[in-house]
Amino acid sequence: MRTVRTLGLLGTGVIGGGWAARALHFGIDVIAADVKPEMERWIREAVANAEGALARLTFAPLPPKGRLSFTTDMNAMARQADFIQENIPEQLELKQRVLAEVSRHCAADVVIASSTSGLMPSDLQRDMAAPERLLVGHPFNPVYLLPLVELVGGRQTSAAAIDAAARFYTGIGMHPLRVRREIPGHLTDRLQEALWREILHMVNEDVATTGELDDSIVYGPGLRWAAMGTNLIYHLAGGETGMRHMLRQFGPCLKWPWTKLEAPELTEALIDKMVAGTQAQAGGRSIRELERLRDDCLVAIQQVLRQFDIGAGATLRALEARLYAASAARARPALAAAAAAGAPQPLRLLEVAVRPEWIDYNGHMTDWRYLQVFGDATDALLRFAGVDDDYRRAGRALYTVESQVTHRAEARVHEALYVASRVLEVGDKRLRLAHSLQRQGDDALIASAQQLYLHVDTAAGRSAPFSATVRERLAALQAPPAS
Ligand SMILES: NC(=O)c1ccc[n+]([C@@H]2O[C@H](COP(=O)([O-])OP(=O)(O)OC[C@H]3O[C@@H](n4cnc5c(N)ncnc54)[C@H](O)[C@@H]3O)[C@@H](O)[C@H]2O)c1
Repeated sequence: MRTVRTLGLLGTGVIGGGWAARALHFGIDVIAADVKPEMERWIREAVANAEGALARLTFAPLPPKGRLSFTTDMNAMARQADFIQENIPEQLELKQRVLAEVSRHCAADVVIASSTSGLMPSDLQRDMAAPERLLVGHPFNPVYLLPLVELVGGRQTSAAAIDAAARFYTGIGMHPLRVRREIPGHLTDRLQEALWREILHMVNEDVATTGELDDSIVYGPGLRWAAMGTNLIYHLAGGETGMRHMLRQFGPCLKWPWTKLEAPELTEALIDKMVAGTQAQAGGRSIRELERLRDDCLVAIQQVLRQFDIGAGATLRALEARLYAASAARARPALAAAAAAGAPQPLRLLEVAVRPEWIDYNGHMTDWRYLQVFGDATDALLRFAGVDDDYRRAGRALYTVESQVTHRAEARVHEALYVASRVLEVGDKRLRLAHSLQRQGDDALIASAQQLYLHVDTAAGRSAPFSATVRERLAALQAPPAS
């Protein structure tokens, strides 16, 4: 299966738009295809709307953004894509027909994934060319912020296609969950639907309003669910003996049962109650406003979970580790050439575009972002010298002792900048670096920084000499003294 540089989207509604925003943000080009030409404007707006929250998700250095193009010709899209994600309406015959057609216009090593919420992959792949590359890749709305994607293979799906899809989704910051066998509704929607059915019953019987039922989750189980699922949470609820005690105590209730398995009849009266209830909850706020609020909360929750390396926070942490490593890898050829030449200046380690959320009320890049950008350049240089995750796990690290930043010119939104760095001094335990932040194109100096780092043994909590290899590599990058 091929490396994915271009994602083809088949259908660009709510879910297609979410895929586009996520893929573009993490450096993948997107060709969006929809039968309706007016969807081009829609998808560009959807991507722009997603950008605000997405840009706040992580400060790790990102690859250059992908490019978005649009077509109404599905087969043209198929000829150019390295991976196709299908997001057309949830109708089996329509999906079968379109997948069969598109599969005849792309090479057999192009994986085709369907976003279907509940259809079976064995049915979807029935009429396709090279059906072994079809799987379900079921995402969750908003696709650009929720990392979960369920991977489901059909009878003909190859393990290679599922592995390739997992690699691609991981690369764009997702958590692929491999579903062992196909069932209607996969895993998550089966669970969500059970909850929703109970909601409909209770609203129908006037037991509670939609708002009261949402409160019953938001103030309680919803808070737990972001970190631990129902099973682990119930294990904790059983006290010292965990799940065994929990099942003894509450297991019999399952037989009464508290819940109703069949959905209620969707009468007009029930639909009206659901609509009136949710409108009251919205309290006059538009869908867009509520989406922004939801997105801000989703970003903040993932950042908190990252501190505990749990759930979606663990996915975010792993993504950031990869982004730092990729940024260091991009800087590596320049560093290696400089070290080999023994004439190492200046080292262009990092290229960035000033992001909208980096701007302060004066319309310029805000001051603490300079430290972030210089820090990312330091990270690339140190990783090259061997100060990587393994080195840190072995209990050695560099602590910042001193930072001096001098501002020379303004950096405006979207301006393309780069950082040039020099090693000024390497001692037994000390490292002094100089960075300059410059504008791409005319090389104008925006800001300069000098930073002093101390090498420490983190377990002992005191300074300690560099490893011989790291010191040697840093010394090879040291500028010759000015004559
Ligand atoms: N909305 C959700 O919350 C959600 C979540 C996960 C998965 N899904 C799944 O994603 C898929 C798409 O759902 P959606 O909510 O984005 O629907 P949508 O109605 O918003 O978008 C569907 C798009 O497909 C286009 N389309 C229709 N026929 C087409 C064709 N023959 N070729 C190309 N484009 C065509 C339509 O013009 C439309 O833009 C469905 O399978 C759904 O089950 C939806």
